[in-house]
Amino acid sequence: MKRNPVIPYIIIFVFGIVLVFFLSFKGLGDMKEIAKEGEGKGGEKTEVAASNPEDIYKSTCIGCHGDQYQGVVGPPLKNTGLSKDEVKDILNNGKGTGMPKGLVPAEQVDAMAEWVSKIK
Ligand code: HEC
Repeated sequence: MKRNPVIPYIIIFVFGIVLVFFLSFKGLGDMKEIAKEGEGKGGEKTEVAASNPEDIYKSTCIGCHGDQYQGVVGPPLKNTGLSKDEVKDILNNGKGTGMPKGLVPAEQVDAMAEWVSKIK
């Protein structure tokens, strides 16, 4: 019996489809695992809309001011000597060219400013 020359292509084609399915199911499994890992950390919420200064800091400021408030692109926020009102002004209006304004929702600015002014 002579083999049909198209068969190798069909085999490769089918193999490819199966591989795609396999990988997407593996992806779903990984996704669940990753979700579980997140839950494991003592109920720490990750992507819930930030509602307290520390969460806002972690989601919005940390990239420029550092995980220890030590400063990265922006200056350190430890012992700035700024008053709550001065921080409020910076949060509302920005500072210099690097500090963006309006990062903190209006209803959070007060609490955020107080918290930032007390970072030690
Ligand atoms: C894109 C980077 C960036 C992000 C994001 C950012 N900052 Fe800044 N911040 C800066 C830079 C740069 C300065 C310095 C500006 C200057 O003095 O010209 C600054 C300055 C400040 C100052 C004044 C510090 C001082 O000693 O004068 C405060 C307070 C501050 N930022 C708080 C925050 C808070 C709170 C957030 C999050 C809501 C935040 N920043 C997010 C870059 C950033």
